[in-house]
Amino acid sequence: MGNRVGKSGSFSVVRTDARETPRSARPRTRTVAVVSGKGGVGKTTLVANLGIALHREGCKVLVVDGDLGMANVDVLFGLIPKWTLHNLVLGERTAEEILIRTTDGIHLMPGASGVEEMANLDEIRCERLLRSIAAVEDGMDLILIDTAPGIHRATTHLARAADEIVIVTTPEPTSWADAYATLRALRKRGTSAKPWLVVNQARDAYEARATMARIRETSLRFLSVTPRFLGYVLEDPAVVTAVRRQEPFMRLYPNCPAASCVEALAQRLIAPTDPEEGIAPFDPDEREDRDPFVSGHRARA
Ligand SMILES: Nc1ncnc2c1ncn2[C@@H]1O[C@H](COP(=O)(O)OP(=O)(O)OP(=O)(O)O)[C@@H](O)[C@H]1O
Ligand SMILES: [Mg+2]
Repeated sequence: MGNRVGKSGSFSVVRTDARETPRSARPRTRTVAVVSGKGGVGKTTLVANLGIALHREGCKVLVVDGDLGMANVDVLFGLIPKWTLHNLVLGERTAEEILIRTTDGIHLMPGASGVEEMANLDEIRCERLLRSIAAVEDGMDLILIDTAPGIHRATTHLARAADEIVIVTTPEPTSWADAYATLRALRKRGTSAKPWLVVNQARDAYEARATMARIRETSLRFLSVTPRFLGYVLEDPAVVTAVRRQEPFMRLYPNCPAASCVEALAQRLIAPTDPEEGIAPFDPDEREDRDPFVSGHRARA
């Protein structure tokens, strides 16, 4: 039995799916952590809507609200979960019990908001959380993890446990400088996950590509890693309206420009790719003295 969720004050029991396909017959679950340097760039909005787009492409998707102190994915779905990752960490509920199946077909592990203990989760509890997430991954094609901005301890743990990371930035220089700094910090802390880049709130494709080029150029030069361009999402007033109405824009405005962009991201994410492309070992000491971002722009710690 899954989590009890409220909408407009009423609660109903949501059952999780029966496992339809034996695990041996399915490809391995991909875990993707969505990170950023600067806050407010659109990670949570992207995770919720990308999850829906991936589901529409035929994937079984689990969204984990890994912004542990200020979780709000549930808010974007207009849900009020009774149990959250906080109950899981405290050992009060199992992973299955906190799981919600949304009307869009994706599964959600909601987080707790305003809980200081969760914001400062220690390594042992973070490990326990990751193990619990892994316990429900059976049958999932993709696990998307939303995270707190910057290089908070929990974000670093979650990124390290992921197979891939999606770095979200806007075209603003402060945002892409912090995106680069975050990638650098994550690599330095042992994250070997394959990095993707998403430029959100772009005015057009040209602006998105120019932003991507700046980050890729700097990353290749100083980190010997070239994050791959997953795509961009246009700045779109429909996104703002959908957030205010607490509904994903993929559901409310499926034909809006941002929805088309997110569909393209989903297709690129699930297209077969060479796992080694663009990845090189990182030596943190090698080029640090020549790295213009080291003393200039830093990700939020
Ligand atoms: N493509 C877009 N077009 C227009 N507005 C957008 C777009 N994406 C996000 N926004 C706006 O940015 C706001 C912040 O987005 P969101 O909460 O997803 O950011 P975040 O990176 O998760 O923030 P935090 O770092 O605080 O967790 C949204 O409420 C929405 O109003
Ligand atoms: Mg967020």
